[in-house]
Amino acid sequence: MEKPILEVQNLCIRYNGAPVDAVRGVSFTLGRERLGIVGESGSGKSTVGRALLRLLPGARVTADRMQFEDLDLLGLSERQMLKVRGRRMSMILQDPKFSLNPIQRVGHQVAETFLRHFSVSKAEAKTKTLEMLAAVKIRDPERVHDLYPHEISGGMGQRVMIAMMLLADPDLVIADEPTSALDVTVRLQVLTILDGLVRDRGIGLIMISHDLNLVRNFCDRVLIMYAGRVVETLDARSMDQAQHPYTRGLLAAQPRIGGPRQPLAVLDRRPEWKEEPAQ
Ligand SMILES: Nc1ncnc2c1ncn2[C@@H]1O[C@H](COP(=O)(O)OP(=O)(O)O)[C@@H](O)[C@H]1O
Ligand SMILES: [Mg+2]
Repeated sequence: MEKPILEVQNLCIRYNGAPVDAVRGVSFTLGRERLGIVGESGSGKSTVGRALLRLLPGARVTADRMQFEDLDLLGLSERQMLKVRGRRMSMILQDPKFSLNPIQRVGHQVAETFLRHFSVSKAEAKTKTLEMLAAVKIRDPERVHDLYPHEISGGMGQRVMIAMMLLADPDLVIADEPTSALDVTVRLQVLTILDGLVRDRGIGLIMISHDLNLVRNFCDRVLIMYAGRVVETLDARSMDQAQHPYTRGLLAAQPRIGGPRQPLAVLDRRPEWKEEPAQ
């Protein structure tokens, strides 16, 4: 097997003042592939993603190992981390409206990322920005460049965020519910762009979602999280062979077009799922 991009062992995270860990003993490796993290709201998916980028100031993060390419993430100083975050490792968030600055033109925000990480002139940054806007299938980059965030649609905003992240050419992208705020057709466009990144640039992609159908169709492998733990890791294609009762419950609770018109199964959560060792 080729060298993984990321190796995480026994990651535990506790928010300040919380009585229990939000994430408990999570381990996984990521190659040049699409890894899904799925689980219900509050299961700890976003907390894992933010911990990788060290975006959890109010929490205690421990792990036996957090290796990103040649970097030991646990040993990096805050200064070193600044060179990693947004440059070698990026995060795409659910709603671009909260991530873009409302009083700055879209193009300037994209160019700013480039100016911060590379020594280029403003003119070069603009050329590159227009190139990137085109790369995420924005049809009229010159026009969109000069718009403010409220003047663009949600789908376009998400593509602008992806363009911003692409400029730095990261090796690892963490997408946290990147399409939850989008309608179905736009969602497909965004997923196609992300898919292209994995295939053409060989990045590692972590796709966080509460949508089991989305990750099973889009990802190569899937971690199933419940109450801060990974209860099962599966090849996306063999999801139907899931062993853990929680995964089986999630699958049974999915509506199917053309399926029987019986009430959907309701998850019957058992306390022991919180404690069983992960398989
Ligand atoms: N900033 C925070 N402070 C305290 N607790 C938090 C914070 N963010 C998340 N949590 C708690 O951590 C757990 C996991 O949350 P989160 O990672 O956001 O779940 P998910 O992304 O799977 O919905 C939840 O119980 C949540 O209430
Ligand atoms: Mg979340």
